[in-house]
Amino acid sequence: MNDNFSYFITFEGLDGCGKSVQAENLYSRLKEKKIPSLLLHEPGSTPLGEEISKLLKWSDEISLDPLTELFLFNASRAQLVKDVIIPSLRKGMVVIVDRFTDSTLAYQGYGRGIDIEIVEQINSVATRGCHPDLSILLDVPPEEAARRQKPGKDRFEAENAHFYRKVRQGYLQIAEGEPDHWLVIDGTLGVDIVSQIIWESVTNNLGRPGL
Ligand SMILES: Nc1ncnc2c1ncn2[C@@H]1O[C@H](COP(=O)(O)OP(=O)(O)OP(=O)(O)O)[C@@H](O)[C@H]1O
Ligand SMILES: [Mg+2]
Repeated sequence: MNDNFSYFITFEGLDGCGKSVQAENLYSRLKEKKIPSLLLHEPGSTPLGEEISKLLKWSDEISLDPLTELFLFNASRAQLVKDVIIPSLRKGMVVIVDRFTDSTLAYQGYGRGIDIEIVEQINSVATRGCHPDLSILLDVPPEEAARRQKPGKDRFEAENAHFYRKVRQGYLQIAEGEPDHWLVIDGTLGVDIVSQIIWESVTNNLGRPGL
């Protein structure tokens, strides 16, 4: 079997929408089928990225301007793209990333209010032109996302409902602008139903329906 897949998938949506659960389900199913795959997350998945992640999420005593957030997410991203994503795609792997550039657009752009064009420019410098083939948006109302979050909120989870409404609208607007690139799923459906929708879409896109 030709094992050159080279396919880049990102999971997007509000904190608590189900990204990690679904990214892990997809990764396990691909592994079961012996498809060479990698599961990553942002910010993080490199030694530098994990340090940046701690700063971004848990540094209550350090002041972090929205623009600084934009650069820190993209510093983590630049390292991840260079060290892991591009080499893995070159090896023919399916690369799954739990959050990527569209999180920055939705949170720092639509949520924090940084000019969308500026966010796009900085994102595009960090990614070196490496774009996902498919982005999956798990759309849930902010109230449902908040209900699902674990206790002990990080800097983003501690944001108010107004912020989350802006982020959700931002995601929907981004997805609407590129309907061929996005799979938008109602994230309030059951975990197994959502996993199946994702599996069908991914295997179709890989040219092997159901594998
Ligand atoms: N479709 C679903 N229906 C009901 N509960 C779900 C569903 N998907 C995930 N959950 C539950 O919601 C919680 C959050 O899920 P998960 O950690 O995957 O979200 P996330 O999008 O990765 O959040 P974060 O951005 O904070 O990492 C978990 O307890 C998970 O079991
Ligand atoms: Mg998660």
